[in-house]
Amino acid sequence: MQVEIVAGSITEVICDALIVNLFEGVSLPTGATGAVDTALDGQIATLIRGKQGAGKYGAISVLHICTGIGARQVILLGLGKQEEFTLDRLRGVAGTAVRAAQKVDARTVATVIHGAGQAGFDPQAAAQALVEGTLLGNYRFRSYKTEKDEVVLPEKLYIIENDAQKVPAITAGARRGETIAAAVCLSRDLVNHPANHMTPTKMAAQAAQVAASHGIELQVMDKEELAALPMCAFLAVAQGSQEPPKLIIMKYTGNPAGKNLLALIGKGITFDSGGISLKPSEGMHEMKDDMAGAATVLGAVQAIAALKLPVNILAIMPCTENMPSGYAFRPGDVIGSLGGKTIEIISTDAEGRLILADAVVFALRQGATHVIDLATLTGACVVALGNVASGVMTNDRDLCGKVLAAAGAAGERMWELPMFEEYKDQIKSDIADLKNSGGRPAGAITAGLFIANFVDGKPWVHIDIAGTVTTDKDNGYNVKGATGTGVRTLVRLAENLGTW
Ligand code: BES
Ligand code: MN
Ligand code: ZN
Repeated sequence: MQVEIVAGSITEVICDALIVNLFEGVSLPTGATGAVDTALDGQIATLIRGKQGAGKYGAISVLHICTGIGARQVILLGLGKQEEFTLDRLRGVAGTAVRAAQKVDARTVATVIHGAGQAGFDPQAAAQALVEGTLLGNYRFRSYKTEKDEVVLPEKLYIIENDAQKVPAITAGARRGETIAAAVCLSRDLVNHPANHMTPTKMAAQAAQVAASHGIELQVMDKEELAALPMCAFLAVAQGSQEPPKLIIMKYTGNPAGKNLLALIGKGITFDSGGISLKPSEGMHEMKDDMAGAATVLGAVQAIAALKLPVNILAIMPCTENMPSGYAFRPGDVIGSLGGKTIEIISTDAEGRLILADAVVFALRQGATHVIDLATLTGACVVALGNVASGVMTNDRDLCGKVLAAAGAAGERMWELPMFEEYKDQIKSDIADLKNSGGRPAGAITAGLFIANFVDGKPWVHIDIAGTVTTDKDNGYNVKGATGTGVRTLVRLAENLGTW
């Protein structure tokens, strides 16, 4: 979808659907909505009088055939209570509005930046949120549908602004929003592709495309190279699969003089059957999304490079399947790891922490000064926080504060879980340095604590995205399927770091 900023009159713009808005409790529209109402001889005011709740958050009302204005039809969008309106609510209603435009077969859509004036938003930030919400809400994944899409996807978005002075800021915000939405959609695509298509080899090919088009250094290590290191824990997970594992390494240098190197590490299990500790078959198909951490990291580096942010990023994506076979590792096995620590395998289904442990050690050897990992790591995190928030664990208040602040600003919910000493007992092994499962109690925390053993005291934040990676319904800027969660937070974090 193309985005164009127009300094002009809302009533004159020629388009299939014009989106205007209403705060809850307002009976006589003002501003842009008021201007359209006047041009339509009070039809919007009539609609509001006849329909309760037109201003409720996310409400949609359509005036189908309009004369007296340039638009063929008008979509009235409820913004909810003015005092509750935030940038993320703006992002959400923009997504809802574009799907309403799909339903009325609109190819061209015009909109104002909803509520930005009344809520006192910075024009650039508001335009960014509007564009992100619109493009993310308009996302569809149709790679495997052979029949023509019955939905008409809007192709053009006009953002109408009557104050010409604001146009440069709005344009800057819109461009940023486009860049970030493209990265989130890349991440969604990778997650939505099934495991027979999105193999570790395919992940590496996708990374190569991103690297080539954004001038990012890329190295892909195969099984033999990993064995030479030796990345024993990663290879133990990979050994049951026919698909060759890949360690994808990308380096973006936005600040050559900078002393900091932020490692972004993403779990890339392209399919998690559980291995010999086989998962129940019900719901197993969802384990194609177990590479979402890697997909998030790839999306984030793409956007960070496209925005030319002055930071240095080391992106590490360990990619493999976790499969049962005669070659597979077993419960009870003791394996080594890149850092030298030995691990007793209690469950081959606790594989994510194994590949992350090796990836973390690898990142530190490459000079990483700070580490953030993202992973669909535990069902326990979904039990704790549901599909609403990602779980955050850390050994460093400062870095964690920065991550949580970035998440808040980007509109992604994250919540910290404690790393109390007492939990560590659960992953002590009788015969090795560690065991890979601490059992059911506090399962998200013991998984985080397992990884903490490998970070060598460096500032580290772990984000468990198991509950937030997909959604089962269209809602605001999310559409059923992969959400691309984490990309916006990482990009915002990199922005907030400044010259770092
Ligand atoms: N990939 C799963 C975690 C997961 C579960 C993600 C549900 C998304 C939805 C992970 O590899 C796993 O299987 N974790 C086990 C750990 C246990 C064996 C200690 C789990 O959560 O059950
Ligand atoms: Mn697993
Ligand atoms: Zn897994």
